[in-house]
Amino acid sequence: MNIIDKFHNWRRKLRWNKQYRRGRWNNLKGDIEKVRYQTIIDLISEFAVENPTVLDLGCGEGILCERMNTSQYAHFVGMDFSSVSIKSAQQLNLPNSEFICADIHSYTPQQKFDVIVFNEVFYYIHDTEKQNVLNRMMDNLNENGIIITSIYREGLGCWNHFDDKMKQLKFTTITTQNEKTYWKIGVYKN
Ligand SMILES: C[S@@+](CC[C@H](N)C(=O)[O-])C[C@H]1O[C@@H](n2cnc3c(N)ncnc32)[C@H](O)[C@@H]1O
Repeated sequence: MNIIDKFHNWRRKLRWNKQYRRGRWNNLKGDIEKVRYQTIIDLISEFAVENPTVLDLGCGEGILCERMNTSQYAHFVGMDFSSVSIKSAQQLNLPNSEFICADIHSYTPQQKFDVIVFNEVFYYIHDTEKQNVLNRMMDNLNENGIIITSIYREGLGCWNHFDDKMKQLKFTTITTQNEKTYWKIGVYKN
């Protein structure tokens, strides 16, 4: 990213912090979104090794981890560039978990994971960095590790990054009563 892009990225981070402070994203905790988290959790059970380590990119307030049983993961790391959402996630005191504040553009995990989730965050990555970020995460998968990506609506320009580089294990669409509200979720391996 050039200096202007970095400036806009910084401005976006401040906007996310403001929105989390105002409760703008509380809807993520509601019933409509519930099925999305549950689908991700079911896909982890179906395709990941037993008792996996999980990295949740763009974890927001830690809802995915909150919705998982502790028996469903060995260790959970959530990361997000919003310090406000990370603080909320940390306050949940969820077992075997840690939540860290970092920018996905520059974040390099400190360990390898069995599951890496791009949880409604891939489309926020700057276009020039999407492939670099995905490559970095692919390098941080354990053997038999999987990447699960959830994207609201079509995610134009996003899915080809996964389909070009990884093997698709499953692709599903979650619909709701509102035809404009739907998510696509893909499971991939190296
Ligand atoms: C739509 S929210 C999804 C939150 C969470 N994954 C969920 O589904 O409940 C998108 C999240 O991506 C985070 N995000 C956006 N750009 C980011 C970046 N450059 N680095 C890290 N997190 C980012 C935002 O702060 C926000 O928490």
